[in-house]
Amino acid sequence: MGLCGNGTHSPLSLELSQGILASMSGRLALPSLLLAVVVSSFCPATSTSGDETRNQLLTREKMMRVGGQLVLTREEEMANQRLRALKEAEMREALRTGSILPSMHFFQAKSLIEKSKVFNILKKMPKGAALHVHDFSITSPDWLVKNATYRPHCYFCFTRRGTLQFRFAHPAPPTPKPAECPQWVLLEKFRKGLHNVSDFDNSLLRNFTLMTENPHVTYADQDAIWAKFKTIFFVLRGLVSYAPVFRDYLSQGLEEFYQDNVLYLEIRASLYPVYELNGTVYSQEWLVRTYEEVAHNFAKAHPGFIGIKLIFSDNRTKNESLIKKSIQTAMGLRVKFPGIVAGFDLSIRGSGHLRGPRSQGQSQDFTARLKPGISQRLQNLEGTPVDRNLLDAVILNSTRIGHGFALSKHPAVLAEAWKKDIPIEVCPISNQVLKLVSDLRNHPAAVMMAAGYPMVISSDDPSAFGARGLSYDFYEAFMGIGGMSADLRTLKQLAINSIRYSTLSETMKKSAMETWEERWQKFVAGLARGPK
Ligand SMILES: *[C@@H]1O[C@H](CO)[C@@H](O)[C@H](O)[C@H]1NC(C)=O
Ligand SMILES: *[C@@H]1O[C@H](CO)[C@@H](O)[C@H](O)[C@H]1NC(C)=O
Ligand SMILES: *[C@@H]1O[C@H](CO)[C@@H](O)[C@H](O)[C@H]1NC(C)=O
Ligand SMILES: *[C@@H]1O[C@H](CO)[C@@H](O)[C@H](O)[C@H]1NC(C)=O
Ligand SMILES: *[C@@H]1O[C@H](CO)[C@@H](O)[C@H](O)[C@H]1NC(C)=O
Ligand SMILES: *[C@@H]1O[C@H](CO)[C@@H](O)[C@H](O)[C@H]1NC(C)=O
Ligand SMILES: *[C@@H]1O[C@H](CO)[C@@H](O)[C@H](O)[C@H]1NC(C)=O
Repeated sequence: MGLCGNGTHSPLSLELSQGILASMSGRLALPSLLLAVVVSSFCPATSTSGDETRNQLLTREKMMRVGGQLVLTREEEMANQRLRALKEAEMREALRTGSILPSMHFFQAKSLIEKSKVFNILKKMPKGAALHVHDFSITSPDWLVKNATYRPHCYFCFTRRGTLQFRFAHPAPPTPKPAECPQWVLLEKFRKGLHNVSDFDNSLLRNFTLMTENPHVTYADQDAIWAKFKTIFFVLRGLVSYAPVFRDYLSQGLEEFYQDNVLYLEIRASLYPVYELNGTVYSQEWLVRTYEEVAHNFAKAHPGFIGIKLIFSDNRTKNESLIKKSIQTAMGLRVKFPGIVAGFDLSIRGSGHLRGPRSQGQSQDFTARLKPGISQRLQNLEGTPVDRNLLDAVILNSTRIGHGFALSKHPAVLAEAWKKDIPIEVCPISNQVLKLVSDLRNHPAAVMMAAGYPMVISSDDPSAFGARGLSYDFYEAFMGIGGMSADLRTLKQLAINSIRYSTLSETMKKSAMETWEERWQKFVAGLARGPK
């Protein structure tokens, strides 16, 4: 029975398929009826079933989506039903109250997300790997305040620019005194003189993240938020790059991801020099070895944890000769530490991450010179919305494209990248907080997810954005970017993708996938069973 048949079935089925749209507007009857009239007036007398055509189209779209090809087990189907029901209920409720979380700024949505049942399921879900996170933003700022700044021998100063700097030193205060610091103050002593220490600790916290109650007012434009973003790294580096803190910071970061059911990370590492109390500064080799050691010890104590790899990450504000040097460094490290150094990432962090018209000029020449030989050994090159970067990434056969925010605007490049099976790393909260998109339902990845373009979800700089692990970004991807159609298939595919598109060896991927699958089955069983 089709739209042009003689039954009364057609308007009804139209209403049903429009159910989501209609319930969004809360005005179900009118739009569907109007549409029914329009459609039937176009029906030729002897058409094939319109229902059939429509169902075919819907089925085709369903198959195209990320995860659309997956066939769920019986138990997964049950889990999916439950998940879908919770998702639909949550969306209905959001439309009723007008608080559509993915459309809100994350800083304002965060506490509401934490109350979401869907979010709490996502937290329990084995998410596989985090493939796009940066070294100085993997660990909660609360930990830095409560742990790092409470260690002995911690000095800080108020800089002339009105920001903070930290440095550990003993027995004497840090030397030489940096130009921007009029005077070093011993933090322990300073706290003793305070009336209200928790007030002060909260002010430190504000120095460590972008979080603010009113982001639209605090950060009027991209320049404003970028200025603050850069300042955070400037403030943090003296804390995080103190050797004992560095080790614990990394370990704590891995703990936060592990608790969030992430078993493997690829960390963009700047290899910023690490120091000791006596002023000793360590080499990059030391750093890589320390990453390896910490991850190894962590894995020993945490069943199922697979490990980390480093993507040596530099910034594009450097001139060509300096970048070439960085690449040589990266390749040298890769030869020395093949188990952990995965590649090189040329991000434009620091010069206008994700936009960087200022850095556009040099990228093309750079690629031309990079191409022969070197590029084959480069595993990663972060593509950015700077269009040429995107081109570079595809021409150089990058393993993945970081963000790939502009890819959907370049159909030829997109087709080429797709043919080469180069996934994008979608970091929803980062893109929103850094003002590339405000309503995450309109993120460009929505189109690509619907079309089945390969992608992974990551969190970029969770601590700077007030997030933690991957779950918040998965929530935004699942509820916002994926729209109503994203379901358990989508989530399963995204998790599988994170292992598939990692830089792990084929053997490691296989065992990682087994570990993940085991956890996935437990998760699915729990979800299918429902609340206890
Ligand atoms: C910070 O964390 C480390 C590692 O968990 C712990 O050993 C240390 O006691 C903590 N320090 C403070 C001041 O909380
Ligand atoms: C310190 O300030 C906080 C607000 O930041 C307040 O809640 C707390 O009661 C104050 N504590 C003392 C001891 O005054
Ligand atoms: C950073 O901390 C200092 C020291 O308490 C404080 O004066 C300043 O207001 C803080 N900065 C921000 C942005 O809150
Ligand atoms: C500095 O401290 C580190 C770590 O405690 C130690 O290994 C190193 O020998 C010290 N260097 C000097 C010159 O004292
Ligand atoms: C690149 O920058 C470095 C440091 O700023 C400088 O010493 C060097 O001369 C520059 N090289 C070129 C080719 O501009
Ligand atoms: C990137 O490079 C510029 C210029 O060399 C520097 O000022 C900036 O601090 C660097 N950013 C990071 C995150 O290292
Ligand atoms: C990229 O891969 C293609 C096909 O495998 C190969 O022909 C091409 O030389 C590669 N390009 C680079 C820059 O490595």
